[in-house]
Amino acid sequence: MMKKNKKYRVVVTRQIPTSGISLLKQAGFDVKVNPKGRVLKKEELKKFVKGADAILSLLTDKIDAEILEAAGPQLKIVANYAVGYDNIKLDDCRKRKVFVTNTPGVLTETVAEHAIGLLFAISQRIVEADEFTRRGKFNGWAPMMFLGSDVREKTLGIIGLGRIGAEVARRMADGFDLKIVYYDIKRSPTLEKKYKIHYLPLRTLLRTSDFVSVHVPLLPQTRHLIGWSALKMMKKTAYLINTSRGPVIDERALVKALKQKIIAGAALDVFENEPRLMPGLTKLENTVLTPHIASASVETRSKMSEMAAKNIIAVLNAKTPPNLVK
Ligand code: GLV
Ligand code: GLV
Repeated sequence: MMKKNKKYRVVVTRQIPTSGISLLKQAGFDVKVNPKGRVLKKEELKKFVKGADAILSLLTDKIDAEILEAAGPQLKIVANYAVGYDNIKLDDCRKRKVFVTNTPGVLTETVAEHAIGLLFAISQRIVEADEFTRRGKFNGWAPMMFLGSDVREKTLGIIGLGRIGAEVARRMADGFDLKIVYYDIKRSPTLEKKYKIHYLPLRTLLRTSDFVSVHVPLLPQTRHLIGWSALKMMKKTAYLINTSRGPVIDERALVKALKQKIIAGAALDVFENEPRLMPGLTKLENTVLTPHIASASVETRSKMSEMAAKNIIAVLNAKTPPNLVK
């Protein structure tokens, strides 16, 4: 007779692409998906995770001691359906010997593509012009209408040369004729040579870049990395792009900087207090705003689903998960 997995309980905090759910079911687990079409509130989440051996969590779930406690001592893994895991209190998990995993790699290109899409959208004023056209304001071609900014021959400053930052560099280095500089806490001589990119201290990068694209994880050290003083260092003609985590930018300072034309514009996929936006942000024409969708392609979200599932399957089979967060 085939040896069957013990009926481990896996809870999935929100409906995700079914490919991963199927893997979990095939592995013989008792899988429960949050049936509500929304994020669970704290008390609901506590109830939902009770008795779980594995939690498949989203970046919108705050996983801390209270949640772990509510789950119970049998909990073995929190598998986050995201590359970023600032929503999880790692220390609390460590104390309880709960593994934490994320979904790196599979979303790198997709997020990089979104960052590049935002770069073009803001510099070519695509969204603003679309709205204008849609509203019936297009009364004929005009020589001075919607003048944007070229991308070629400009300088792109990448903050954080991790997987995603490096992918933006790779794509942009080839074919768009711009100069690429980067700042990171550690230098990458290999990537510098490979993509012909140059390292700069953060201040110099901010002072000299025409586009600044942020790709750092949210950590205590990166919270408000881009605040008022950083914004003031940037060129008046510069654009800021953020596909990392909202709190890396001081959003209040950003709204002020955009209002006062301290910088030319910002294209943001992430916000400081999601899903709330800083008052004033949506009134500004020099912004492009997307609702945290940089990794949202059909292909990538399926891969993320499978990756999270595989991490759970490994741990519940007493193996080291492939994407263990350290
Ligand atoms: C999305 O923001 C992610 O971290 O995967
Ligand atoms: C995330 O995948 C990063 O390292 O940029």
